[in-house]
Amino acid sequence: MFERPESAPRKVFLETYGCQMNVADSQLVGGVLQRGGYVRTEDPADADVLLLNTCAIRERAEERVLGRLGELLQFKHARPSVQLGLLGCMATHMREQLLDRAPYLDLIVGPDGYRDLPILLDEGVDPRVDVRLDRDETYADLIPDHGPGPRAWLTVMRGCDKFCTFCVVPFTRGRERSLPPDAVVAQVEAAVAAGKREVVFLGQTVNAYGSDGADFGDLLRRAAAVDGLERIRFTSPHPSEVSDSMIAALADEPKVMPYLHLPLQSASNPVLEAMARDYTIEQYRELLARVRERVPGIAVSTDIIVGFPGETEAQFAQTAEFLEEARYDFAYQFKYSPREGTRAHKMPDTVSEEDKGRRLEQLIARQEEISFEKNQEQIGREVEVMVEGPARRPPGHVVGKSQSFKTTIFRDTGAAPGELVRVRVDGGSGHTLQASPL
Ligand code: 5AD
Ligand code: SF4
Repeated sequence: MFERPESAPRKVFLETYGCQMNVADSQLVGGVLQRGGYVRTEDPADADVLLLNTCAIRERAEERVLGRLGELLQFKHARPSVQLGLLGCMATHMREQLLDRAPYLDLIVGPDGYRDLPILLDEGVDPRVDVRLDRDETYADLIPDHGPGPRAWLTVMRGCDKFCTFCVVPFTRGRERSLPPDAVVAQVEAAVAAGKREVVFLGQTVNAYGSDGADFGDLLRRAAAVDGLERIRFTSPHPSEVSDSMIAALADEPKVMPYLHLPLQSASNPVLEAMARDYTIEQYRELLARVRERVPGIAVSTDIIVGFPGETEAQFAQTAEFLEEARYDFAYQFKYSPREGTRAHKMPDTVSEEDKGRRLEQLIARQEEISFEKNQEQIGREVEVMVEGPARRPPGHVVGKSQSFKTTIFRDTGAAPGELVRVRVDGGSGHTLQASPL
């Protein structure tokens, strides 16, 4: 059987599931392993180490990963020295069950255990499990492998203290902690030095950021002062953590892009209360109005859950009505998925699968129309696009994001990735804008 010579660098295949935090964590893992002497491969058949960075937010996310593990097992059968590891939220959420359901795993490592991955990979015992959560781990000193393109994802805070009753994240990622502002600025400067032009600040409740006396608005202003950086974005904020300081940064700092993700979840007060979202629909509505007044033209997206335990038809109808009122640019919408360990898991799951499906379909269909209308409203406007690269189609076109994060396609002007091009919007679907360079 083929075995690689001792001296050849070991190859790692790393696949990512779930949210942007996981994408950024995988870049962190990529950096750690690179420094540990590993090289990346996109071909699992060619890898010495196979890693899945996983998501536990909904049951379906976990099922997909378990299915994928079964597929990857063939590479371990073909070459027994291959190590198969599971990282991320499923590691902390499913720890014991995983030893049962995937006993062939060599490595199970949660979101706070990545610093020592090269050491764990060198240890001979099976399986190696590190699912401890660490109140202090921010990886502030580790440089991620940002990959290609003009955008760098930077995790500025980790964990969540909100404990929304449906959500597994506080259990899988642990308590809230922020990187010191100096460390964030150093990471922004390093990203710019490496050719990046945009940073996206990430955190599970990113605007709960706080460290060394700096709040989230301060952090945005400090990053905006970095020369050579063109754009700053962030996700995901929590409505009850939106401060005047943050809104002021959105309104007054030209580098802070006019786009806000403002997760609603439900527009019914009893449902919001049962979810422990700590705002009422009246407060949310007022906040949305305040943001739109201070930042005219700002794009807003949201998250919605249908079929939370006890959600009645009338309560669902309130959410559907609010969708009309809010006119979001985009919405991520989900059927409630019971998660073990959460408070909602103990509430009777009263909404049938059929009703959940119908409610979801209704909201998705209506939001598609609204997204289309919102994009049509852009026609005739001038927007500035940061070029990302060639568009998949049509030929001779490039794609990038507008200030408000809309995917925009236009004729190639020869601008390199990271350059800003002014264009006029001349068409739009629900998902993209078509434009002409000015
Ligand atoms: N079921 C369905 N959706 C969920 N989310 C979080 N937990 C659950 C769950 N148990 C959604 C929320 C959150 C987004 C990231 O995922 O809308 O804002
Ligand atoms: Fe989950 Fe709520 Fe924390 Fe978001 S704020 S990660 S939904 S617990």
